[in-house]
Amino acid sequence: MNEHIRFDRDALELHLLDQRLLPEEEADFACRTPGEVITALQTMVVRGAPAIGVTAAWGCALAAAAGDESEGWQERLTAALEDIARARPTAVNLRWAVDRLRARWRAAGELSRPALLELFLREAQAMQDEDVAACKTLGRFGADCLEDGDTVLTHCNAGALATAGYGTALGVIRAAVEQGKRIQVIADETRPFLQGARLTAWELQRDGIPVSVACDNACALLMQKGLVQRVVVGADRIAANGDAANKIGTFGVALLARHFGIPFYVAAPLSTIDPQTADGAAIPIEERPAGEVTHISGRRVTPVDVPVYNFAFDVTPAALISGIVTEAGVLRPSYGPAIKAALAEVL
Ligand code: MRU
Repeated sequence: MNEHIRFDRDALELHLLDQRLLPEEEADFACRTPGEVITALQTMVVRGAPAIGVTAAWGCALAAAAGDESEGWQERLTAALEDIARARPTAVNLRWAVDRLRARWRAAGELSRPALLELFLREAQAMQDEDVAACKTLGRFGADCLEDGDTVLTHCNAGALATAGYGTALGVIRAAVEQGKRIQVIADETRPFLQGARLTAWELQRDGIPVSVACDNACALLMQKGLVQRVVVGADRIAANGDAANKIGTFGVALLARHFGIPFYVAAPLSTIDPQTADGAAIPIEERPAGEVTHISGRRVTPVDVPVYNFAFDVTPAALISGIVTEAGVLRPSYGPAIKAALAEVL
């Protein structure tokens, strides 16, 4: 599946599969302006670190397309790109994508607005294609970490929907299945947005990969019963020392995996590694609207006026991670030097 992020060059429109409505409805969400792209990112029409990076890149192209070349257009466009980069704070892929376009613009020097639009369109398409390729490569590396007959627990959705296609954690699972391994998946439901129950289960069922959904709070019992052999999750930002931010609840899964001696892998493209962030403590954690916790399907489940916590991510310390699966191979501790070497290869 990679039609969930589709740019129509003739109409200059970005078409997104509206992930808020899955699995019940497959609806298109069209963006014609950078503002609509920001709305799509913030309301989670599209979500998942690599997917929001690619979406942001197309948003920058829409920003380049909007407006004339009157005095100060470059400054106005620069401000519009910054607004896109700030749409969500934790997933570094968002800023990474906008920075990459800004760097190409700087390198190209003086450009007319139509020429800049053409440059952004080309670059956004390249990012989309590269992300699918990175997922397939990291999937093959990660598949070697799974054994025939394994049941793999995953948290949130790090699948095709969360990337430009194929997926990171689910890419590892897909590649293992393509290699002929019999793999079963347990998808944590992932409160409050239910990415596991709604999206991971939907994707894997469509691919014919056996998947069960479990409540987040069932994890300890499932592991204690011996029902989980491996954990593979995605990441929103990996710090220079290997600490990894991912969907809220991931840290708890990692602690349980350590307790039960179950290997815990993080799968992510190199674009998710942020060498500027020294460690997990420096990763900004998004707080989302209380309504995501106080209501389920529009129905209130907490008393009025009771405050809630809605941190969207947590950070798993590097010490709990058995391997970081990237398109440059499976990085092993000590992660600082391993990350440096992997990033040096692509520069
Ligand atoms: O809030 P979300 O749904 O954007 O969070 C997504 C996750 O935490 C994913 O696990 C992560 O982005 C990896 S996606 C390949």
